[in-house]
Amino acid sequence: MGKKGLCRIKDILDSDVGTKKRDTMKFEILGVTPPEGQRWKIGRDEVNQLIAKNSIEIVDGKIKVAVYPDDEPSEILKPFWSHFEDCGTAETGKNTLNEVLNKKVGFDTVKPVDLISNLILHSTATDSEDIVLDFFAGSGTTAHAVMELNAEDGGTRQCISVQMPEVLAEDSEAYKAGYRTIADITRARIDKVIAKLKAEQPLTTQGLACAHFTLAPSNFKVWRSNVNDAATLRDQLALFQSAEKNRPAPQAADAQTAMLAELLLKNGLGALGVHAISKPKQIAGVTVHRVLLEDNRTLWLCFEPYTQALKDEMVKAQPAQVILLNSCFVGDQADELLANLQLELAGLEIGLTVI
Ligand SMILES: C[S@@+](CC[C@H](N)C(=O)[O-])C[C@H]1O[C@@H](n2cnc3c(N)ncnc32)[C@H](O)[C@@H]1O
Repeated sequence: MGKKGLCRIKDILDSDVGTKKRDTMKFEILGVTPPEGQRWKIGRDEVNQLIAKNSIEIVDGKIKVAVYPDDEPSEILKPFWSHFEDCGTAETGKNTLNEVLNKKVGFDTVKPVDLISNLILHSTATDSEDIVLDFFAGSGTTAHAVMELNAEDGGTRQCISVQMPEVLAEDSEAYKAGYRTIADITRARIDKVIAKLKAEQPLTTQGLACAHFTLAPSNFKVWRSNVNDAATLRDQLALFQSAEKNRPAPQAADAQTAMLAELLLKNGLGALGVHAISKPKQIAGVTVHRVLLEDNRTLWLCFEPYTQALKDEMVKAQPAQVILLNSCFVGDQADELLANLQLELAGLEIGLTVI
């Protein structure tokens, strides 16, 4: 209730920090100035007009604007998706999620799949391999919508869903349903939609897959940038000799997969189905990961001790590029072995990266 009757009360304070800082928006209104770190959202002229219209209220010592029915804008603003008919509600979104997970998870901010699907349909080309990035993935509706749309129109859209591991409250439905973070829900939904589409359309969904990653320090010390002082830098450089962090030996399968995924991502080769892209093979007694490059030449990655026999196989196979670790070169002749290999491969125009 305002001085002139029924109204809506509007806050006019805003942050006065960083890019929002505006000295001109800090002045007295009816004897009240904005608190420290805050400022008015509206300027002096507009305030004077509101005072003249008797629309400024002081509520609990704070300046507010009273918006009376006559002040409301005449045109009804419609959400940008309002021209999409029948694209569901938050309620239908929630129901779809519970159905897919076959559990009640009480996730409130779920968007309806049809809405997201419509937005993607109108902003991507069917056969384009467009990448849809959802940086606030939540329950994973965007990935769900992309996969369903591709299944419907034979599209090749891709989707990157980013969700932080926001911890679920122990008394929440989702926690009682067995999930611990929102990211668990995102992952579960994506996997279940993949399984559902593969069951429904086995012929057209063979390649449907999702690679799940968690942000973590690099597998390679040379890429971990926690260098804050000279001493750490010296240590970092000294570690150059054996780049990988002291995880289980680089030969260990999970260490190799992690390093491989990171190297493929860093080389812009994507990492969906790491082993699908690179077929690990025993060559000269060591595991070599081979990646088919766009020019049909191959990239070889090897994390195990280097041998002359391996070099002979490289010379025979002529890969375009070879990636090895510093720690692959062991023994007294390590430097010499490396130098000889560099020379020989350069002569054969085979690229060599040693990390
Ligand atoms: C409104 S919800 C998204 C709901 C989603 N569209 C759906 O249909 O389920 C926003 C999500 O973004 C996540 N989030 C917020 N800040 C984030 C950040 N910096 N990085 C990754 N995720 C973030 C929150 O944890 C929350 O799950």
